[in-house]
Amino acid sequence: FHVPKAVNEPVKSYAPGTPEREEVLLTYKDLYNSNMEVPLYIGSEAIKTGDTADIRPPHDHKHKVGTYHLAKKKHVEQAIDEALKARERWAKLEWEQRAAVFLKAADLIAGPYRSRINAATMIGQSKNIYQAEIDSACELCDFLRFNVEYMSDMYNEQPNSSDGNWNRVEYRPLEGFVYAITPFNFTAISGNLPSSAALMGNVAVWKPSDSQIFSAQVIMEVFKEAGLPDGVINMVMGDPEMITNTVLDSPDFAGIHFTGSTNVFKGIWGKIGNNIQKYKTYPRIVGETGGKDFIVAHPTSKPKQVATAISRGAFEYQGQKCSAASRVYLPKSLWPEIQEFVREDLESFKMGSPEDMTNFINAVIHEGAFDKLAGYIDRAKKDKDAEVVIGGNYDKSEGYFIEPTVILTSDPHYTTMETELFGPVVTIYVYDDKNYSEEKWRDLLKTVDNTSIYGLTGGVFSGDRYMAAVATDMLQNAAGNFYINDKPTGAVVGQQPFGGARSSGTNDKAGSKMNLLRWASVRLIKETF
Ligand code: ALA
Repeated sequence: FHVPKAVNEPVKSYAPGTPEREEVLLTYKDLYNSNMEVPLYIGSEAIKTGDTADIRPPHDHKHKVGTYHLAKKKHVEQAIDEALKARERWAKLEWEQRAAVFLKAADLIAGPYRSRINAATMIGQSKNIYQAEIDSACELCDFLRFNVEYMSDMYNEQPNSSDGNWNRVEYRPLEGFVYAITPFNFTAISGNLPSSAALMGNVAVWKPSDSQIFSAQVIMEVFKEAGLPDGVINMVMGDPEMITNTVLDSPDFAGIHFTGSTNVFKGIWGKIGNNIQKYKTYPRIVGETGGKDFIVAHPTSKPKQVATAISRGAFEYQGQKCSAASRVYLPKSLWPEIQEFVREDLESFKMGSPEDMTNFINAVIHEGAFDKLAGYIDRAKKDKDAEVVIGGNYDKSEGYFIEPTVILTSDPHYTTMETELFGPVVTIYVYDDKNYSEEKWRDLLKTVDNTSIYGLTGGVFSGDRYMAAVATDMLQNAAGNFYINDKPTGAVVGQQPFGGARSSGTNDKAGSKMNLLRWASVRLIKETF
């Protein structure tokens, strides 16, 4: 079998007067006033447990747009049972049957569900339409379609056989169920983590982030409409510790597909280790976690190009991409010009609700994030070795709004050069490039390499090809996704498989064959004639 060739879903413009703009705004209004109840999806049931939490847009936290139901331990156990029951049929289906479900899901998202999934992402996660479109519409479709193509390539690749022998490999699903824990910041990631495992014949228990419930529900509805059998993916919300402990206690736990914080992932890894005697198989552990992503510019780089990379790479989606630039190293000779360009960009970024599509900056995800960011900004305003040079205001009276903020520091190890903040705050260290030499560039790159425990993304800017090559060589483990003369965000499925090293994750590259292989237990069959 050959599947349709995957191509990236074209990004729609949402320019004034376009039908997609009108449609998404109408859907936004409907959803905003829907007071929707999101149930748990377990097997064939949509369960309302009666124990609920509110869904409130981060940009308008006094307004309730819906509620979601919280699981008790018995619901999580039920989700595991239903997944294992569904496995009996799902794991036996031919792979092209499974492919068809997710290809159809992609078409539903690209077509009839596009405005709904975008509006849900705009409201629930406070994302502007352009960022919602590249995430919840395009990237999610791309994950679904490219994964099918990667699976098909894998299944069609077979080992050599010699005279009298026939060798073949089968990509069997794992023996048990997969647990997916997904983040708030990308609707695409939240759809990809359970579905990539399911595409390979696995069944899943999925815990979306409490801050992404609105769009998670759309994903579940799409999967169901696409023909995903009941119980293959079960969505449960509630106390994360209780859900995780219940899942990890099951002898049938066969793997985790995780995107979220480093500490949570390390904690889960420890629990899996403690439980290892219980499990029937060695669980697969796949995770993408934190980042302290960098931009480092050589004196030969182009100021405008570097400035745009900072404005876009650090502030799109309020800096809440795991890939967002958050520490920047700039030469003194270029700093005044770069600062002016960044200032112009940031002053042109309007801030407010995503319903007004002229707002580029929306709210940060919740009060906890807001308070943490405001605390670091206040500290930088007071500290001797730091200075807030752009932005620095914040207000949570209506929504969790933080102005795009640039901190300048004289210490390359200043706290905000090292700590992951996950918000619209970037810290810049300006180095002296008088009589600059290769040796000094190498010293700077050592600092870039040693400053953070993470290794997710980074960008080097240089007009001198040799200096870019030196950086590429010296920063081998500092960024799983390494960009030359580009911002470190915006990986496109099918073009830049995504994942980080060090404490940023297991680097199994979302949107790749490498990732899909983690959800397969390969059987080799040798037959002799
Ligand atoms: N894949 C996302 C990006 O590259 C996180 O920005």
